[in-house]
Amino acid sequence: MAKQDFPALSFCQMLYFYGMKLMIINGPNLNLLGKREPEVYGNTTFETYFETLKSKFPEAELQYFQSNIEGELIGKIQEVGFSYDGIILNAAAYTHTSVGIGDAVKAITTPVIEVHISNTHKREDYRHVSYISSGAKGVILGFGLQSYDLAIQSFL
Ligand code: DQA
Repeated sequence: MAKQDFPALSFCQMLYFYGMKLMIINGPNLNLLGKREPEVYGNTTFETYFETLKSKFPEAELQYFQSNIEGELIGKIQEVGFSYDGIILNAAAYTHTSVGIGDAVKAITTPVIEVHISNTHKREDYRHVSYISSGAKGVILGFGLQSYDLAIQSFL
């Protein structure tokens, strides 16, 4: 349900959606958004975009975690993966290499949406492989930072 539909929600639906806990997990080099290859990833830092997301979706309890370390990403997936309502995961380069992150996504009960800022299928062949997709509820890619926005909407 999109945010513009929000006023049409019944009282019970409002109670349900408020407090929906969603965790955004970003992998390596995404801490450099805004500086890193702006022609591919844009000029906005994730911290700035995260503030936009929080004001756009007040009905969700949004949290954000970023790490350049594979084990820390697995640790966060395990930590929230049995209690949160959703995980929005951009595993960045680990998408294409990490059996461990792919296994973590399959091991948990919280649904995971895999997101990418760029359309990885339009890029190098090694970016066409994902170890995440087979365990994910869905995949959203190629919409710039709006990919995260769409992923959040998919949970509401
Ligand atoms: C990315 C795409 C990956 O191939 C790349 O390694 C990234 C970012 C994206 O969001 O478009 O770091 O996940």
